[in-house]
Amino acid sequence: MARKIIIDTDPGQDDAVALLLALASPELEVLGITCVAGNVPLPLTTRNARIVAELAGKPVRVFAGCEAPMQRPLVTAEAVHGKTGLDGADLPEPTRPLAPGHAVDFIIDTLRAEAPGTVTLCPLGPLTNIATALTRAPDIAARIRQIVLMGGAYFEVGNITPAAEFNIYVDPEAADIVMKSGIDLIMASLDVTHKVLTTRARVEAIRAIGTRVGSVVADWLGFFERFDEAKYGTEGAPLHDPCVIAWLLRPELFSGRRINVEVETASPLTLGMTVADWWRVTDRAPNATFLGGVDAEGFYTLLTERLARL
Ligand code: RIB
Ligand code: CA
Repeated sequence: MARKIIIDTDPGQDDAVALLLALASPELEVLGITCVAGNVPLPLTTRNARIVAELAGKPVRVFAGCEAPMQRPLVTAEAVHGKTGLDGADLPEPTRPLAPGHAVDFIIDTLRAEAPGTVTLCPLGPLTNIATALTRAPDIAARIRQIVLMGGAYFEVGNITPAAEFNIYVDPEAADIVMKSGIDLIMASLDVTHKVLTTRARVEAIRAIGTRVGSVVADWLGFFERFDEAKYGTEGAPLHDPCVIAWLLRPELFSGRRINVEVETASPLTLGMTVADWWRVTDRAPNATFLGGVDAEGFYTLLTERLARL
């Protein structure tokens, strides 16, 4: 029985690779893709998600969600992802329309329709859609199997500010709602994503698949990595969002701790910081499995093998 998931996303080249990994993996049943404003505004994240679904050749429904954070103006990341959010490869505009209805309603309705504890939410962007759904329909919290998200940082500190990771920073109030929801949370933080760099050899192995998907992904990564290579002086960039899907497929590739994680929502200096009690120096109750380690070669072997299936 395939694991039922909803992927909430703000494509973004790394989101796109995560979507392809999920759509290529028979262990997962993608019930729908819900889009949120983040890397680029909502009209582009919905366009990009539809492009990826059609590139994968999968008839998965794509829904438009929240176009702005719950209480703050949107912050985007075109400097990283380009003006379309999916720069690097020339792909045709999507032909299949958006699914009707709001993404938040799809999340609520799906969780109420499916058996309790059978649907996993996989947020890859700001948590606005997820938190809005939890606020509008508190009953769904008990029906969610797990939330496996990309977000936060501790040892790696911030990437959008010195203190905060982008997904959390864009909508810290939404992240606070999710962190306090009581739902079983798995956090693929920068602490783990910064250990899976898109090195030359790894990108060329993807291109060597020899398919259109392999070529497109290699081209996306060639564009996506330039910002972080210049910033960090590394060969390659962190491939953030596919870590969420890889954890679902092969959790043994990752390591982490169940600890308390809280989000700063007030301080202008540290807004969006995930305060992770990694050393358990407080008596705050653990609320998340915070990932910190990963077998990077195993991750790329899995990713490359699965992309070759599309
Ligand atoms: O900080 C990395 C995260 O922000 C990733 O999800 C990337 O796609 C951007 O949304
Ligand atoms: Ca993302």
